Amino acid sequence: MSKPRIGMWMYQNSGGDQIQKKMIDLLRERDILTTPELNLRHAVAKNGTIVCNDTVMEELDLFFSYNAGEQTQYQVYLYETLSHFIPIINSFEAFSISEDKFKTAHLLKRHGINTADYMLCHRDDVHGLKNILREWGGKIVYKPTDGWGGMGLVKIENEAALDMLLPFLNQTDIRYFYTERFINYDNTDFRIDIVDGEFVSCYGRKAPKDNWKTNITSGGSIFLREADDEVIEIAKKAAAICKLDIAGVDLIYDQEKEEYVVLEVNGIPAFATPEQEKMGLNFNDKKIDLIVNLIDKKINNKG
Ligand SMILES: Nc1ncnc2c1ncn2[C@@H]1O[C@H](COP(=O)(O)OP(=O)(O)O)[C@@H](O)[C@H]1O
Ligand SMILES: [Mg+2]
Repeated sequence: MSKPRIGMWMYQNSGGDQIQKKMIDLLRERDILTTPELNLRHAVAKNGTIVCNDTVMEELDLFFSYNAGEQTQYQVYLYETLSHFIPIINSFEAFSISEDKFKTAHLLKRHGINTADYMLCHRDDVHGLKNILREWGGKIVYKPTDGWGGMGLVKIENEAALDMLLPFLNQTDIRYFYTERFINYDNTDFRIDIVDGEFVSCYGRKAPKDNWKTNITSGGSIFLREADDEVIEIAKKAAAICKLDIAGVDLIYDQEKEEYVVLEVNGIPAFATPEQEKMGLNFNDKKIDLIVNLIDKKINNKG
């Protein structure tokens, strides 16, 4: 019998190339072969097959897709199509929920996980927005549902600010507004990585002075942080509810309600960069092992 073969598309910057190499070596030790660099951007689908760099994607035993930020609509379209034929990590269903902040919050809330209070309404529902601003004590955050890196988030602290924002947003083609109650927190967050239901790591990010966003792209900085059992349990539950095999769960601690709140769930959480490893973030090997195990398990459960 020929050896199983998986396809891989992994980010190469920030040490990703080294992670990929380690993963391929460990898979080979388990008699699993890997075809890397399968960027669906270069794939063509024709008469029953999706072909990417000469590889027939449907003939792979599994596809490991791990490249954030570079997904075009074309890639996502083929990701979805392929998901009907071979297992993909993460599954397309889970991936698409995690890419959308409203869908994630809605799913989590319905399963009893604390998220920020949120509201989605039609773009013309100015009345609804003004009401929610009052109901939530005059502080809301407008968020694009598919944003990342803190981009496009606007804190609205009074009706005048809302009146300023609305004409601007109305010039865009968005159909709805997604808003959250602004949470009073200490401007630090928790990033908890989960693979296959297991806790991998926790670190924190701290917002820069005079900023409420912890994103690195907003000037936030990473620090080592212990996770207590409660926050780990919440992260595990959130990953399971979203059906993510691999998840990076972002939480903050609401100082008023005195509870952890899940802000978002990332389906392609980055490994520690070489610089972060020097700081002491040493979870990469554990994460690689868990992912290799997961791939092995999925391939051999195939029956
Ligand atoms: N409801 C909120 N209340 C207070 N701060 C928030 C809220 N939502 C987001 N933030 C801050 O903004 C940052 C970015 O928000 P997030 O929803 O994670 O979007 P992104 O995908 O752009 O990272 C968070 O890391 C957090 O620091
Ligand atoms: Mg975030």
